Amino acid sequence: MTYNNINFPQTRMRRMRYNDFSRRLMRENRLSVDDLIYPMFVTEGSNQRQTISSMPGVERLSLDLLLEEAHLLYSLGIPAIALFPVTSADKKSEHAAEAYNPDGLIQRSIRALKKAVPELGIITDVALDPFTTHGQDGLVNLDGYVINDETIDVLTRQALSHAEAGADIVAPSDMMDGRIGAIRQALEEANHINTLILAYSAKYASSFYGPFRDAVGSAGTLGKGNKYSYQMDPANSDEAMREIQLDLQEGADMVMVKPGMPYLDIIRRVKDQYGVPTFAYQVSGEYAMLKAASMNGWLDEKQVVLESLLAFKRAGSDAILTYYAKSVAQWLQE
Ligand code: PBG
Repeated sequence: MTYNNINFPQTRMRRMRYNDFSRRLMRENRLSVDDLIYPMFVTEGSNQRQTISSMPGVERLSLDLLLEEAHLLYSLGIPAIALFPVTSADKKSEHAAEAYNPDGLIQRSIRALKKAVPELGIITDVALDPFTTHGQDGLVNLDGYVINDETIDVLTRQALSHAEAGADIVAPSDMMDGRIGAIRQALEEANHINTLILAYSAKYASSFYGPFRDAVGSAGTLGKGNKYSYQMDPANSDEAMREIQLDLQEGADMVMVKPGMPYLDIIRRVKDQYGVPTFAYQVSGEYAMLKAASMNGWLDEKQVVLESLLAFKRAGSDAILTYYAKSVAQWLQE
Protein backbone atom coordinates (compact mmCIF):
# COMPACT_ATOMS: atom_id res chain seq x y z
CA MET A 1 0.00 0.00 0.00
CA THR A 2 1.35 3.38 -0.93
CA TYR A 3 0.21 6.65 0.60
CA ASN A 4 1.54 9.12 -1.91
CA ASN A 5 -0.74 7.61 -4.52
CA ILE A 6 -3.89 9.14 -3.08
CA ASN A 7 -6.86 6.99 -3.92
CA PHE A 8 -9.22 8.23 -1.21
CA PRO A 9 -10.95 11.61 -0.83
CA GLN A 10 -8.59 14.25 0.49
CA THR A 11 -11.34 15.82 2.49
CA ARG A 12 -14.02 13.80 4.17
CA MET A 13 -16.89 16.20 4.84
CA ARG A 14 -18.92 13.28 6.13
CA ARG A 15 -16.65 12.82 9.16
CA MET A 16 -18.38 15.66 11.00
CA ARG A 17 -21.79 14.30 10.08
CA TYR A 18 -21.11 10.84 11.48
CA ASN A 19 -22.16 11.42 15.09
CA ASP A 20 -24.99 13.34 16.60
CA PHE A 21 -22.62 15.18 18.94
CA SER A 22 -20.51 16.58 16.11
CA ARG A 23 -23.56 17.47 14.04
CA ARG A 24 -24.81 19.43 17.02
CA LEU A 25 -21.47 21.12 17.62
CA MET A 26 -21.16 22.37 14.07
CA ARG A 27 -24.80 23.44 13.64
CA GLU A 28 -24.81 27.04 12.40
CA ASN A 29 -28.42 28.05 12.90
CA ARG A 30 -31.09 27.23 15.39
CA LEU A 31 -34.77 27.90 15.65
CA SER A 32 -36.07 28.86 19.06
CA VAL A 33 -39.35 30.01 20.49
CA ASP A 34 -37.78 33.47 20.76
CA ASP A 35 -37.96 33.73 16.97
CA LEU A 36 -41.71 33.32 16.72
CA ILE A 37 -44.53 35.79 16.19
CA TYR A 38 -48.05 34.41 16.02
CA PRO A 39 -50.54 36.18 13.72
CA MET A 40 -54.10 36.03 15.07
CA PHE A 41 -57.54 36.96 13.74
CA VAL A 42 -59.95 38.66 16.11
CA THR A 43 -63.68 38.90 15.53
CA GLU A 44 -66.60 40.60 17.31
CA GLY A 45 -68.84 38.86 19.84
CA SER A 46 -68.14 36.41 22.59
CA ASN A 47 -67.42 32.71 22.63
CA GLN A 48 -66.79 32.81 18.87
CA ARG A 49 -64.37 30.34 17.36
CA GLN A 50 -64.64 30.26 13.59
CA THR A 51 -62.70 28.01 11.26
CA ILE A 52 -61.16 29.30 8.02
CA SER A 53 -61.58 26.78 5.21
CA SER A 54 -58.36 27.65 3.39
CA MET A 55 -56.34 27.68 6.63
CA PRO A 56 -57.21 24.51 8.59
CA GLY A 57 -56.03 24.83 12.18
CA VAL A 58 -56.28 28.64 12.21
CA GLU A 59 -59.36 30.25 13.73
CA ARG A 60 -60.97 33.63 14.09
CA LEU A 61 -61.47 34.20 17.80
CA SER A 62 -63.63 36.61 19.72
CA LEU A 63 -61.80 38.70 22.28
CA ASP A 64 -62.72 36.58 25.32
CA LEU A 65 -61.24 33.48 23.69
CA LEU A 66 -58.29 35.46 22.34
CA LEU A 67 -57.37 36.44 25.88
CA GLU A 68 -57.42 32.82 27.02
CA GLU A 69 -55.24 31.89 24.06
CA ALA A 70 -52.86 34.77 24.83
CA HIS A 71 -52.17 33.36 28.29
CA LEU A 72 -51.32 30.00 26.75
CA LEU A 73 -49.06 31.56 24.09
CA TYR A 74 -47.25 33.56 26.73
CA SER A 75 -46.73 30.47 28.86
CA LEU A 76 -45.30 28.69 25.81
CA GLY A 77 -42.72 31.47 25.60
CA ILE A 78 -43.92 33.14 22.39
CA PRO A 79 -42.63 36.74 22.55
CA ALA A 80 -45.32 38.50 20.52
CA ILE A 81 -48.54 38.19 18.55
CA ALA A 82 -49.72 40.13 15.50
CA LEU A 83 -53.38 41.09 15.48
CA PHE A 84 -55.69 41.26 12.47
CA PRO A 85 -59.33 42.30 12.74
CA VAL A 86 -62.33 40.82 11.02
CA THR A 87 -64.50 43.87 10.39
CA SER A 88 -68.24 43.52 9.88
CA ALA A 89 -69.61 44.94 6.61
CA ASP A 90 -71.53 47.74 8.34
CA LYS A 91 -68.29 49.13 9.77
CA LYS A 92 -66.54 49.37 6.40
CA SER A 93 -66.59 52.62 4.48
CA GLU A 94 -64.94 54.55 1.66
CA HIS A 95 -62.91 56.50 4.17
CA ALA A 96 -62.07 53.66 6.52
CA ALA A 97 -62.88 55.74 9.60
CA GLU A 98 -63.29 52.57 11.67
CA ALA A 99 -59.52 52.10 11.35
CA TYR A 100 -58.87 54.77 13.98
CA ASN A 101 -61.97 54.36 16.15
CA PRO A 102 -60.61 54.41 19.74
CA ASP A 103 -63.28 51.84 20.59
CA GLY A 104 -62.76 49.73 17.50
CA LEU A 105 -62.21 45.98 17.76
CA ILE A 106 -58.43 46.21 17.51
CA GLN A 107 -58.13 49.09 19.97
CA ARG A 108 -60.30 47.24 22.50
CA SER A 109 -58.32 44.05 21.93
CA ILE A 110 -55.02 45.81 22.57
CA ARG A 111 -56.24 47.29 25.84
CA ALA A 112 -57.65 43.97 27.04
CA LEU A 113 -54.52 42.05 26.06
CA LYS A 114 -52.15 44.52 27.71
CA LYS A 115 -54.19 44.24 30.88
CA ALA A 116 -54.45 40.46 30.84
CA VAL A 117 -50.95 39.51 29.63
CA PRO A 118 -48.84 42.67 29.88
CA GLU A 119 -45.57 40.95 28.98
CA LEU A 120 -46.80 39.56 25.66
CA GLY A 121 -45.72 41.87 22.83
CA ILE A 122 -48.62 43.22 20.78
CA ILE A 123 -48.09 44.00 17.10
CA THR A 124 -50.84 45.72 15.14
CA ASP A 125 -51.35 45.94 11.41
CA VAL A 126 -51.48 49.45 9.99
CA ALA A 127 -53.36 49.31 6.68
CA LEU A 128 -56.91 50.09 5.65
CA ASP A 129 -57.99 46.93 3.81
CA PRO A 130 -60.09 45.52 6.67
CA PHE A 131 -61.98 48.81 6.83
CA THR A 132 -62.55 49.86 3.21
CA THR A 133 -65.58 48.86 1.16
CA HIS A 134 -63.27 48.14 -1.81
CA GLY A 135 -60.68 46.07 0.07
CA GLN A 136 -57.71 48.22 -0.93
CA ASP A 137 -55.11 49.14 1.69
CA GLY A 138 -55.71 52.86 1.18
CA LEU A 139 -58.25 55.43 0.03
CA VAL A 140 -59.08 55.41 -3.67
CA ASN A 141 -59.94 58.16 -6.15
CA LEU A 142 -62.69 57.94 -8.77
CA ASP A 143 -60.46 55.83 -11.00
CA GLY A 144 -59.94 53.35 -8.20
CA TYR A 145 -56.31 54.43 -7.80
CA VAL A 146 -54.99 54.29 -4.24
CA ILE A 147 -54.06 57.85 -3.32
CA ASN A 148 -50.86 57.96 -1.36
CA ASP A 149 -50.78 61.14 0.71
CA GLU A 150 -54.44 61.17 1.76
CA THR A 151 -54.03 57.53 2.80
CA ILE A 152 -51.05 58.42 4.97
CA ASP A 153 -53.20 60.79 7.03
CA VAL A 154 -55.58 57.95 7.85
CA LEU A 155 -52.76 55.46 8.49
CA THR A 156 -51.16 57.92 10.89
CA ARG A 157 -54.41 58.28 12.84
CA GLN A 158 -54.76 54.52 12.87
CA ALA A 159 -51.22 53.98 14.15
CA LEU A 160 -51.70 56.63 16.84
CA SER A 161 -54.92 55.00 18.02
CA HIS A 162 -53.06 51.71 18.35
CA ALA A 163 -50.23 53.31 20.29
CA GLU A 164 -52.70 55.08 22.54
CA ALA A 165 -54.43 51.78 23.25
CA GLY A 166 -51.07 50.33 24.26
CA ALA A 167 -49.71 48.55 21.20
CA ASP A 168 -46.01 47.78 21.56
CA ILE A 169 -45.30 47.60 17.84
CA VAL A 170 -47.20 49.17 14.96
CA ALA A 171 -46.62 47.43 11.66
CA PRO A 172 -47.55 49.36 8.51
CA SER A 173 -48.29 46.78 5.82
CA ASP A 174 -49.78 49.19 3.29
CA MET A 175 -46.72 50.07 1.15
CA MET A 176 -47.57 53.78 0.77
CA ASP A 177 -44.56 56.02 0.17
CA GLY A 178 -43.49 58.06 3.17
CA ARG A 179 -45.78 56.47 5.74
CA ILE A 180 -43.02 55.38 8.09
CA GLY A 181 -41.74 58.93 8.42
CA ALA A 182 -45.22 60.34 8.98
CA ILE A 183 -46.08 57.72 11.60
CA ARG A 184 -42.75 58.13 13.38
CA GLN A 185 -43.22 61.90 13.56
CA ALA A 186 -46.78 61.57 14.86
CA LEU A 187 -45.67 59.08 17.51
CA GLU A 188 -42.87 61.39 18.63
CA GLU A 189 -45.18 64.37 18.82
CA ALA A 190 -47.69 62.41 20.89
CA ASN A 191 -44.84 61.33 23.16
CA HIS A 192 -45.08 57.67 22.21
CA ILE A 193 -41.33 57.61 21.90
CA ASN A 194 -40.95 53.92 22.69
CA THR A 195 -43.56 52.58 20.32
CA LEU A 196 -41.71 50.37 17.87
CA ILE A 197 -42.29 50.41 14.13
CA LEU A 198 -42.04 47.15 12.22
CA ALA A 199 -42.14 48.20 8.58
CA TYR A 200 -43.46 45.79 5.98
CA SER A 201 -40.78 47.24 3.73
CA ALA A 202 -40.40 44.65 1.02
CA LYS A 203 -43.96 43.52 0.63
CA TYR A 204 -44.64 41.89 -2.68
CA ALA A 205 -47.89 41.82 -4.66
CA SER A 206 -48.19 38.12 -4.00
CA SER A 207 -50.80 35.52 -4.77
CA PHE A 208 -49.78 33.74 -1.58
CA TYR A 209 -52.03 36.10 0.44
CA GLY A 210 -55.24 34.48 -0.78
CA PRO A 211 -56.16 32.53 2.38
CA PHE A 212 -55.49 35.58 4.57
CA ARG A 213 -58.02 37.56 2.56
CA ASP A 214 -60.53 34.77 3.22
CA ALA A 215 -59.69 34.94 6.91
CA VAL A 216 -60.29 38.68 7.31
CA GLY A 217 -63.06 38.76 4.73
CA SER A 218 -61.41 41.22 2.35
CA ALA A 219 -61.33 38.76 -0.57
CA GLY A 220 -64.93 39.57 -1.38
CA THR A 221 -64.53 43.33 -1.18
CA LEU A 222 -61.34 43.32 -3.24
CA GLY A 223 -62.99 41.18 -5.92
CA LYS A 224 -60.95 41.27 -9.12
CA GLY A 225 -58.96 44.23 -7.81
CA ASN A 226 -55.24 43.94 -7.31
CA LYS A 227 -52.53 45.75 -5.37
CA TYR A 228 -49.95 46.12 -8.14
CA SER A 229 -49.79 49.92 -7.87
CA TYR A 230 -48.32 49.77 -4.36
CA GLN A 231 -47.06 46.28 -3.51
CA MET A 232 -43.81 45.22 -5.16
CA ASP A 233 -43.32 43.24 -8.34
CA PRO A 234 -42.12 39.71 -7.46
CA ALA A 235 -39.53 40.09 -10.21
CA ASN A 236 -37.55 42.72 -8.30
CA SER A 237 -34.75 42.56 -5.78
CA ASP A 238 -32.78 45.85 -6.05
CA GLU A 239 -36.03 47.72 -5.56
CA ALA A 240 -36.49 45.94 -2.23
CA MET A 241 -33.15 47.36 -1.06
CA ARG A 242 -34.38 50.88 -1.83
CA GLU A 243 -37.62 50.26 0.06
CA ILE A 244 -35.67 48.98 3.06
CA GLN A 245 -33.30 51.94 2.98
CA LEU A 246 -36.13 54.46 2.87
CA ASP A 247 -38.04 52.86 5.74
CA LEU A 248 -34.89 52.79 7.87
CA GLN A 249 -34.17 56.44 7.10
CA GLU A 250 -37.75 57.31 8.00
CA GLY A 251 -37.49 55.65 11.39
CA ALA A 252 -38.34 51.94 11.18
CA ASP A 253 -36.94 49.85 14.04
CA MET A 254 -37.39 46.55 12.22
CA VAL A 255 -37.97 45.72 8.60
CA MET A 256 -39.90 42.88 7.06
CA VAL A 257 -39.79 40.79 3.93
CA LYS A 258 -43.06 39.22 2.84
CA PRO A 259 -43.90 36.52 1.71
CA GLY A 260 -41.20 34.36 3.20
CA MET A 261 -40.09 31.09 1.61
CA PRO A 262 -40.18 32.25 -2.01
CA TYR A 263 -38.23 35.38 -0.99
CA LEU A 264 -35.37 34.02 1.11
CA ASP A 265 -32.90 35.65 -1.30
CA ILE A 266 -34.33 39.05 -0.37
CA ILE A 267 -33.96 38.33 3.35
CA ARG A 268 -30.31 37.45 2.84
CA ARG A 269 -29.63 40.64 0.86
CA VAL A 270 -31.33 42.82 3.48
CA LYS A 271 -29.43 41.24 6.33
CA ASP A 272 -26.08 41.48 4.54
CA GLN A 273 -26.58 45.03 3.39
CA TYR A 274 -28.18 46.65 6.43
CA GLY A 275 -27.60 44.38 9.41
CA VAL A 276 -30.80 45.53 11.07
CA PRO A 277 -33.52 43.49 12.79
CA THR A 278 -34.96 41.65 9.81
CA PHE A 279 -38.27 39.85 10.08
CA ALA A 280 -40.02 37.61 7.61
CA TYR A 281 -43.61 36.54 7.19
CA GLN A 282 -44.44 32.94 6.33
CA VAL A 283 -47.77 33.98 4.87
CA SER A 284 -51.16 32.35 4.68
CA GLY A 285 -50.55 30.68 1.32
CA GLU A 286 -47.32 29.12 2.55
CA TYR A 287 -49.17 27.82 5.60
CA ALA A 288 -51.94 26.47 3.38
CA MET A 289 -49.47 24.57 1.18
CA LEU A 290 -47.66 22.97 4.10
CA LYS A 291 -50.93 22.16 5.83
CA ALA A 292 -52.68 20.71 2.80
CA ALA A 293 -49.78 18.43 1.90
CA SER A 294 -49.49 17.33 5.52
CA MET A 295 -53.20 16.61 5.82
CA ASN A 296 -52.94 14.43 2.73
CA GLY A 297 -50.13 12.50 4.33
CA TRP A 298 -47.73 13.66 1.59
CA LEU A 299 -45.37 15.49 3.93
CA ASP A 300 -44.36 15.04 7.54
CA GLU A 301 -45.83 18.24 8.97
CA LYS A 302 -43.59 18.76 11.97
CA GLN A 303 -40.41 18.04 10.02
CA VAL A 304 -41.22 20.23 7.03
CA VAL A 305 -42.42 23.12 9.16
CA LEU A 306 -39.32 23.08 11.34
CA GLU A 307 -37.14 22.82 8.23
CA SER A 308 -38.95 25.70 6.55
CA LEU A 309 -38.47 27.94 9.58
CA LEU A 310 -34.84 26.96 10.00
CA ALA A 311 -34.38 28.04 6.38
CA PHE A 312 -35.61 31.52 7.36
CA LYS A 313 -32.97 31.64 10.08
CA ARG A 314 -30.26 30.51 7.67
CA ALA A 315 -31.35 33.20 5.22
CA GLY A 316 -30.84 35.83 7.93
CA SER A 317 -34.25 36.40 9.55
CA ASP A 318 -34.39 37.35 13.15
CA ALA A 319 -38.06 36.83 13.93
CA ILE A 320 -40.61 34.98 11.79
CA LEU A 321 -44.33 35.58 11.64
CA THR A 322 -45.93 32.19 11.15
CA TYR A 323 -49.33 30.62 11.66
CA TYR A 324 -47.38 27.61 12.91
CA ALA A 325 -45.92 29.57 15.85
CA LYS A 326 -48.05 27.89 18.49
CA SER A 327 -47.46 24.37 17.16
CA VAL A 328 -43.74 25.04 16.86
CA ALA A 329 -43.54 26.36 20.41
CA GLN A 330 -45.17 23.10 21.55
CA TRP A 331 -42.91 20.94 19.37
CA LEU A 332 -39.80 22.68 20.65
CA GLN A 333 -40.80 21.73 24.19
CA GLU A 334 -41.18 18.03 23.39
C1 PBG B 1 -53.03 43.66 4.70
C2 PBG B 1 -52.23 42.44 4.93
C3 PBG B 1 -52.18 41.30 4.11
C4 PBG B 1 -51.42 40.36 4.79
C5 PBG B 1 -50.99 40.95 5.99
N1 PBG B 1 -51.50 42.24 6.05
C6 PBG B 1 -52.85 40.98 2.84
C7 PBG B 1 -52.67 41.84 1.67
O1 PBG B 1 -51.77 42.67 1.59
O2 PBG B 1 -53.49 41.70 0.78
C8 PBG B 1 -51.16 38.97 4.29
C9 PBG B 1 -50.75 37.97 5.31
C10 PBG B 1 -50.87 36.56 4.90
O3 PBG B 1 -51.15 36.22 3.73
O4 PBG B 1 -50.69 35.71 5.78
N2 PBG B 1 -52.38 44.82 4.37
